[in-house]
Amino acid sequence: MTRLTIAIAKGRLQSDALALLNQFGITLSDDAETSRRLSIEDRSGEYRFLFVKPADVTVYVEHGIADCGIVGRDVLLEASADVLQPLDLPIGRCRMVVAAPADAKANGHGIVKVATKYPRIATRHFGERGQPVEIISLSGSVELAPVLGLADCIVDLVETGRTLRENGLIVTEEIFSSAARLIVNRASYQLKANALLKLINLLKDLIAKGAKPDA
Ligand code: PRP
Repeated sequence: MTRLTIAIAKGRLQSDALALLNQFGITLSDDAETSRRLSIEDRSGEYRFLFVKPADVTVYVEHGIADCGIVGRDVLLEASADVLQPLDLPIGRCRMVVAAPADAKANGHGIVKVATKYPRIATRHFGERGQPVEIISLSGSVELAPVLGLADCIVDLVETGRTLRENGLIVTEEIFSSAARLIVNRASYQLKANALLKLINLLKDLIAKGAKPDA
């Protein structure tokens, strides 16, 4: 039996990804999501899961430690990793946006300060429109930056819009919409073709049948 190693982004995608895989019989022990173990086999022993930070999913897959992974398009665009991306998944839907305080005024010096966890995406976005920016890289809670005067605006993900709302920010531009993707290591795609094609085709069937992670 060929065992596949699948890297899963911890956090907002994790339970939806596991729920999706669960629909074709990949099940983990009951305590898998609450446990602190970061590498877990499914009940059949056919799959091993690595739970890693979203930005590290591409690293594990690109280096072949994981054969495939589930990660947001936002992370892929930020990382520009050399991996195959055979499938969009119906989970993790959100938008990458520019957001600013509802009462924001131009800062008067022409260079917009942008706080973000996505410096490449932000640089590319403002670069394409010839807007000079100073990028301020943060690791999280970026909504605080314009509220406290560290930045004029943010480039960040919006899912429900609640974090923006509760911090007095509004969307001023949408950059792209994002969802989770299945990514595959190039060598694994050749060496473990049967196992990977089985996984890809099963996921495709589920998606065609309108699978929802909570179905
Ligand atoms: C993400 C994102 C926003 C928030 C948006 O952060 O960076 O802050 O979720 O979600 P909402 O529109 O549903 O409110 P995450 O929860 O991953 O935490 P972080 O800010 O610490 O990175």
